[in-house]
Amino acid sequence: MKTSHQSSRRKFLKAGGIFIAASGLSTAVNSLAKEKDTKENVVSPPEDLMREHGVLKRILLIYGEAIRRIDSKQDLPPEPLADSATIIREFVEDYHEKLEEDFLFPRFKKANKLVDLVNVLLQQHQAGRQLTDITMHLATSQTLKNADDRRKLVDPMRQFIRMYNPHEAREDTVLFPAFRGIVSAHEFDSLGEDFEKKEDELFGEDGFFKVVDRVAEIERKLGIYDLAHSRPKHEQITSHDWAAVNALDPAHRRRGFLSEGIQKFLFADAQGAGRFAKIGIPAPNVLSPFVGCVEIVCGALLVIGLMTRFVAVPLIIDISVAIISTKLPVLLGHGF
Ligand SMILES: [Fe+2]
Repeated sequence: MKTSHQSSRRKFLKAGGIFIAASGLSTAVNSLAKEKDTKENVVSPPEDLMREHGVLKRILLIYGEAIRRIDSKQDLPPEPLADSATIIREFVEDYHEKLEEDFLFPRFKKANKLVDLVNVLLQQHQAGRQLTDITMHLATSQTLKNADDRRKLVDPMRQFIRMYNPHEAREDTVLFPAFRGIVSAHEFDSLGEDFEKKEDELFGEDGFFKVVDRVAEIERKLGIYDLAHSRPKHEQITSHDWAAVNALDPAHRRRGFLSEGIQKFLFADAQGAGRFAKIGIPAPNVLSPFVGCVEIVCGALLVIGLMTRFVAVPLIIDISVAIISTKLPVLLGHGF
């Protein structure tokens, strides 16, 4: 009986031991995973600063749109402009630039690296703040009602755009990439965490994304949010642009036939059968693929310099028909 009791006790203790060991292991694994997760989620200082530059860039585009509307005497409500200038003040100047001034610039100066650049960047920050003061002061409904006052608002925004485009491009490509080389790995990591903590303190949890949402809202109000609108239409980037390039460069001219032939198949409506039908060439569904094949085969031979005299004949016929059917009407003012 005693033996049986001792055996049960041993089993119980053994099971308990396994349970405790397993829980300990599980806690350790969880905390390691948590630490790994936190490390992976921390954005490095250059990445953090660069994505903040993305916000700045989007405000520069908003300013550009505001200037375009003022120049073309279109309606411009004051709120999007005032909100944009406020984001520049709160997020870019009082937070992002402060990070650069407190944590990056002094370290570059101490390491005696890129000191001249840092001095210019600092002067630009100061000038930018003055321009923002003026923009904030003038971004009101009262100013936007008067044509002269509207023009006064354009000037600081134009100067701001002109200064900050090269400013942020230089920091992204020269200053930030060099930062890793002047601090220890430990300092680099802990600065990343400090930057994020500060961001959350000032703008709430996921502060960066909240600011991005504010910018997107302004873009929507101005009708510039949808990226698809800024894509050039296919017709705008095909024949006319290539015609100009081909006219200037013999190498492009040789590749031009090959490219034209391929486009007749890829963009049948704009460059192939559709275009043939539009300019009155008979049997467009037959002739367009035929001409496309001739251009591809002869154009490829021309590019590699094979049988050039032979391929010149069909290509001369091809280009003559193109001149008669499209270029002459353009010259005579009946352009296609
Ligand atoms: Fe800066």
